[in-house]
Amino acid sequence: MKRRIGILISGRGSNMEALIRAAAEPEAPFEIALVLANNPEAGGLEKARAAGLRAESVDHRPFKGDREAHERALDAKLREAGAEILAFAGYMRLLTPWFVEAWPDAILNIHPALLPSFKGLHTHERALEAGVLWHGCTVHLVRPAMDEGPILGQAAVPALPGDTAESLGARVLAQEHRLYPEVLRRFASGRLSVQGERVLGEPVVLRADLAES
Ligand code: GAR
Repeated sequence: MKRRIGILISGRGSNMEALIRAAAEPEAPFEIALVLANNPEAGGLEKARAAGLRAESVDHRPFKGDREAHERALDAKLREAGAEILAFAGYMRLLTPWFVEAWPDAILNIHPALLPSFKGLHTHERALEAGVLWHGCTVHLVRPAMDEGPILGQAAVPALPGDTAESLGARVLAQEHRLYPEVLRRFASGRLSVQGERVLGEPVVLRADLAES
């Protein structure tokens, strides 16, 4: 049985598209049950519908700062669609502990940096300012603290002389699109799991070589 995935987005959804492509492979151990956005204008919603998927939004604005009430509305849609695993793909809202605890060890997130470095926003600018030579992206299980949780996979890319946040970000994004589907394949098939905070199985390790960039 394929595991049913709920994808949460806030924007253009290029990682969502990578997961949709991976789900279309015959041997994929997962299928997309629902795409949900917190923003009705999220560009990814139309892309998901064009791929024949159910795609809906629950606008957070009418909830006027009541995060948990917004999350309860998201949760109801995800349960109703039969989602078992959630893949956050550019979902830009912080979660309450209630939501994280309602989906134990079942929420994956992709972050555009090599965690635990550069949690939060503007990761590419901050990596360049810090002078790192390697940057990248991380897929991790979500815990109540922002950008924390067991690391299921990472992809590293070089930061090159003359890089801007845009050029470095584009190099990272290309790896996000490789990393996320592979982590989800392993996680959904049980080859990758956690026991408490310990990762069991085969985390995904990718590296874009200098020659590729
Ligand atoms: C991606 O780079 C993702 O890693 C990042 O937002 C972008 C979404 O792009 N996520 C975060 O910053 C989460 N804090 P996409 O909508 O094209 O997938």
